[in-house]
Amino acid sequence: MGIRDDIAGDWHASLAALAWHVEIGVDEVISEAPVNRYDLPETTRAPAAVATVAAAARPTPAPAPVQPQVDAVEAARVAAARATSLPELREIIAGFDLCDLKKGARNTVFADGNPEAHVLILGEAPGRDEDIEGRPFVGPAGQLLDRMFAAIGLSRGAAEPENAIYITNVLPWRPPGNRDPEPAEIAMMRPFVERHIALMNPRVIVVMGNTPLYALTGQKGVMRARGTWTSALDRPMLPMVHPAYLLRNPIAKREAWADLLSLQSRIRAKN
Ligand code: URA
Repeated sequence: MGIRDDIAGDWHASLAALAWHVEIGVDEVISEAPVNRYDLPETTRAPAAVATVAAAARPTPAPAPVQPQVDAVEAARVAAARATSLPELREIIAGFDLCDLKKGARNTVFADGNPEAHVLILGEAPGRDEDIEGRPFVGPAGQLLDRMFAAIGLSRGAAEPENAIYITNVLPWRPPGNRDPEPAEIAMMRPFVERHIALMNPRVIVVMGNTPLYALTGQKGVMRARGTWTSALDRPMLPMVHPAYLLRNPIAKREAWADLLSLQSRIRAKN
């Protein structure tokens, strides 16, 4: 359900309306643009003559100012280049207003885990749980992800870089209704992902699912790519299927286990 957007001016009325919407169960944004479901149907509007007189009495609104075109990808590149540390990058992303996904999100979900970790895991985008908590991979898929990496001795809580993981997503804001990210959104946020990886400086990258695979390589089809080491941003990269897919298709866990073992032997060889 969307929040009505026809209440303007009166602070108390707005607050009461907001409280009422919370009371009836509005707890999330489900589409990019608000829909005014309270709009009166055509038949109940004022008769045409009255409406015409009223319209004539209203001053003509000034035309909306023409907004200069902004190249969002270039703006993201410039913003990302300003970051000289992960905390700075976190602040810069939180203040980046050109991606509409931010408007519908509760939190900017930056990263979790040990920033010194040898392994960086790149996911797609926050879901409902991550949006609420402000941390990546905390819902059911995230719990599976934690169990998968724990099985090869890696965790986000580990203090030693060789036993730790660091987790982030291509998009820091939840797409409405968990829809797939648009290519334009991925392109816009890619400079931040690149900077994130450069600043964190992992030894290997694991991309989980189609979106991060596409974001880093332009390649589609993680089912074909999974398990084969390649490189992205001058680092070894292993594509794996997304843990949400594994929840829906437990049979695929067998291949995911082979991929985890491949990761384990790769990082052991490097330590
Ligand atoms: N799926 C993702 O790709 N990332 C998250 O943070 C949660 C679910």
